[in-house]
Parts: sequence; structure tokens; C-alpha cells
Amino acid sequence: MDAQKKMNVAVLASGRGSNLQALLDAEKRGELPCAHIALVISDNPEAKALQRAQAAGVEAVFVDPTPFKKRRAEYDGEILKVLRSHHIEFLVLAGFMRILSDVLLNAYPNKIINIHPALLPAFPGLHGQRQALEYGAKVSGCTVHFVDAGVDTGPIILQAVVPVMDDDTEDTLSARILQYEHRTFPKALDLISRGLVRVEGRRVFIEEDPEQK
Ligand code: GAR
Repeated sequence: MDAQKKMNVAVLASGRGSNLQALLDAEKRGELPCAHIALVISDNPEAKALQRAQAAGVEAVFVDPTPFKKRRAEYDGEILKVLRSHHIEFLVLAGFMRILSDVLLNAYPNKIINIHPALLPAFPGLHGQRQALEYGAKVSGCTVHFVDAGVDTGPIILQAVVPVMDDDTEDTLSARILQYEHRTFPKALDLISRGLVRVEGRRVFIEEDPEQK
């Protein structure tokens, strides 16, 4: 496919950036033929995600939240300026630890996805893996979903189920779930960028891939 026709994607990340890396690697391997990761934005100047972006030759921008304490909409306005200047069409939240305001939600309706380390609607918010362990769940996993105004409440696109072992700690369970995150997130982005994902209310349907018929 012509590079011009690809969906221009920005990844927002606050920390380690292993999911960003999985997306960058998938693109490099040719597994995201209709998407291009053009920009990485972080709210944390120390985020390893910024270094990963630079190493991959992708523009990395730190947008400083400190002048906008408790003024989320204004901060999102700053992010929006950067997104617009890079002609970004789609947003991926990869460990971006902020709740988005209407400024971004209205600018990108049904065009923002997030990954969460639990089987939503169970265990939303922070420390999804720890919540699953403490609750005594026998399975957990990860969820890729569209972002709406709630915390981890938007329509679910893909989920992967991961067993919880008797001897799991938060770290071992997180590491097992993370392996599935790294496969599920690029797959969701690929399906969306190829126009194979349809949203009807809360339900998301994956169309048959005409190339696989
Ligand atoms: C991932 O496990 C992601 O699912 C989680 O943060 C981690 C980021 O890791 N996100 C959330 O908990 C969102 N509620 P990464 O920076 O290595 O991709």
C-alpha cells in the first residue's frame, strides 16, 4: 500500500513503553500495512517510550503537564495542537496514565484505543493485575477497547484470556499478561486500520478479512 494512504497514528505513553515497542516492531515487520506510527507523545520527560520512539526514528514529543494542574482540557488542548500539526488521524494509549477530556474525545470520536491489563469490565483503573490476584480470579488477561469518557469503560475490541497460577505474584502475572498485550494491541490496530472493525453501540464487530478468504 502507498505510504500516503496509511492511517497516521500517534501513540501516547507515560512510562516503559513496551506496548509502544510491540507496535513499532509490528510495523517494522510489515504487520501493520495500513497504519503508520508517526508520533509518540508523553506526559513524562523520563518515559522510556520517548527513547524507544527516537531509536525507531519516530518523532517523540514531551508535552509538559505541570502548567496545567487540574486543567485537563487545557492540557489536552496542547496535545491536540501537536497532533494536528502532525496530521494525526488515530490515537493509541499505551500506558498513558491520564484520563482524557472531551477536547481529545471530541476531536477523535471512536478513534482512540487503550489497552488495559485485565478482562474488562473486571478490574478497571490502576493495578488491574493486582486487583485480579487479590480478588482471587482464576483467569485474567488484557482488553483493547475504544476510549470514552469513563475509566476503561469504552466498547471492547479484543480480549485475551490469561490463567492466574496459584504461585503468581503481581509481577509474574503482569509479565504473563504483558506477553498477550504485545500481541493483542498490534492486532487490534491492524484490524481497525484495515477498516475491519465496526462499532454498534457498545458492541464491536470484526468483519471477515477479504484477503484471507
Ligand atoms: C501495560 O500493562 C498497560 O496495560 C497498562 O500499563 C502498562 C504499560 O506498560 N495500562 C493500564 O493499566 C491502563 N489502565 P508499557 O509502558 O510497557 O506499555
